[in-house]
Amino acid sequence: MLNVSEIQTIDHDVVVVGAGGAGLRAAIECSARKLSTGVVSKSLLGKAHTVMAEGGMAAAMGNVDARDNWKVHFRDTMRGGKFLNDWRMAELHAKQAPARVQELEEWGAVFDRTRDGLISQRNFGGHRYPRLAHVGDRTGLELIRTLQDHGVHSGISFHMECTGLEILKDGERVAGLLAYWRETGRFVIFRCKAVILATGGGGKAWPVTSNSWEYTGDGVAMAYNAGAELMDLEFTQFHPTGMVWPLSVRGILVTEGVRGDGGVLKNNKGERFMFNYISERFAPETADTVEEADRWLKGDKTARRPPELLTRDEVARAITAEVKAGRGSPHGGVFLDIASRLPAETIKRKLPSMYHQFMELAEVDITKEPMEVGPTLHYFMGGIRVDPDSQMSLVPGLFGAGECTAGMHGANRLGGNSLSDLVVFGKLAGEGAAAYVGQLAASPRVQESQIAAAVRAATDILNREQGANPYVLHEKLQETMGKGVGIVRVKEELETALAEIAELKKEAETLKAPGASQYNPGWHEALAMRSLLVTAEAVARSALMREESRGAHTRLDHPGESKEWVSFNCVVKRGPDGDMQIEKRPKRPGAPGLVAIANAKIEDLESGKVGADVQ
Ligand code: FUM
Repeated sequence: MLNVSEIQTIDHDVVVVGAGGAGLRAAIECSARKLSTGVVSKSLLGKAHTVMAEGGMAAAMGNVDARDNWKVHFRDTMRGGKFLNDWRMAELHAKQAPARVQELEEWGAVFDRTRDGLISQRNFGGHRYPRLAHVGDRTGLELIRTLQDHGVHSGISFHMECTGLEILKDGERVAGLLAYWRETGRFVIFRCKAVILATGGGGKAWPVTSNSWEYTGDGVAMAYNAGAELMDLEFTQFHPTGMVWPLSVRGILVTEGVRGDGGVLKNNKGERFMFNYISERFAPETADTVEEADRWLKGDKTARRPPELLTRDEVARAITAEVKAGRGSPHGGVFLDIASRLPAETIKRKLPSMYHQFMELAEVDITKEPMEVGPTLHYFMGGIRVDPDSQMSLVPGLFGAGECTAGMHGANRLGGNSLSDLVVFGKLAGEGAAAYVGQLAASPRVQESQIAAAVRAATDILNREQGANPYVLHEKLQETMGKGVGIVRVKEELETALAEIAELKKEAETLKAPGASQYNPGWHEALAMRSLLVTAEAVARSALMREESRGAHTRLDHPGESKEWVSFNCVVKRGPDGDMQIEKRPKRPGAPGLVAIANAKIEDLESGKVGADVQ
């Protein structure tokens, strides 16, 4: 018989789940506001997907091109997101990102500098001006290091190798988190007044991904199970350039900084094929000849940007089309060439990690030969639906920040907007949670019955005589998502994927992990499968429902954007049996000034003809 009172209990005001950029920044904010703050991290500190945002952090500081400002950044973000972004989130992000970069510098981040000693900024896809503050090609790593150093000195308690299982509730509101220590398998109850989920995405549902083992959609699934709404799950970002060879490292990221610094994409005929894929929306701002693109790279301000710096959705689709047409590289990608564009010493100085990554993993010297690259599942634009200013979900006391939330990036995220998203919305989530905790009249109480049921569901996996193998189930799910819910989608394949997911869910009811609960990777995998299946089903259902092509969601049977779909797909758990339902909701209207800025011609915005009255 389970005795809940024997389970270890830890008390905090706020528990933050996830120790990436968003979680750490949220925790720092809560701690600064004198709240007892615990960070629960599934793996060790420093392992977050934040480190995979290598090329930089977007913030309109105007250090390299003085024409940049928050309005141009906001406009780029809305256009990159195909106008589906939440207006308010995109506004908050563009306005607050520069202050968050300065703050990181004050906390010890060592950014690369311009000749004048300012923080240097590099070009990236979809950003009109050089805007990404960076540390070589290790920016995410430096961001995490800085936040960790700051966090450990500000009284935050870190609970590492501890996985969240379920949000505990007192009536409608949050009362804590049930988790387990991965090493001992023992359960732990965190009693708290607010939980901030900062758990990243669910890339491990796909076979080729830049995500590491931790990214199984835990926060998305916990929020959904707790009654929060999810949103925009159909928008899954395939970063155009992951490694394709050797197979053991397929999917590992090749930073967009390579293209930002002048790298070009070529097919097996040696053609710079991106010139053939310039969409109408971006045509006025994109060079249509090699000569013009190269003039831009040399700093000619009258030239337009190279097509290699189109947004990620466009570049990933173009690469897929080239490979499909038989113009791919030997291992099913295309060529990314920096060797013929920059001197070897410059490549090693600007892109040190890429140099070592290819040298060590593929025995390719990128200062001499091109890289072979192809799309890799990198990022979820969708996630938990939150209030833009407070970051609270529909469940009182449940907050979200970073990749596990939705709204900021619309249908497609611009590279570099994730690092700034993490710290902008991490801080806001911390402020939101502090405000919520401050107005609570009484502490919520965890319910023993909920804990007992959750523990039983988790330990059933160990106690069964026989059942499905979690590793086999995971492979089957990856195959399903890779085949049916990839870069391009069609109704029949999505329906097949959903039918397969339904079968996998049935199998998951009988998951079996042999052995005891002490460090038992099979059990961890089985528990992660429960989150992955919720996440994968939400993605597939949302993708089936959205009958148009927008940003990262391409429906071959519904080409082009449709006005009818300037709306959100919300994923909700409804009804007595808790079946997943998708509801179409209208997009919240933007403030007229913001709408005018997003739609303005760039020359009108820069001359002040549009947007001058917006502060
Ligand atoms: O390509 C990159 O360095 C990734 C950046 C990002 O996802 O923001």
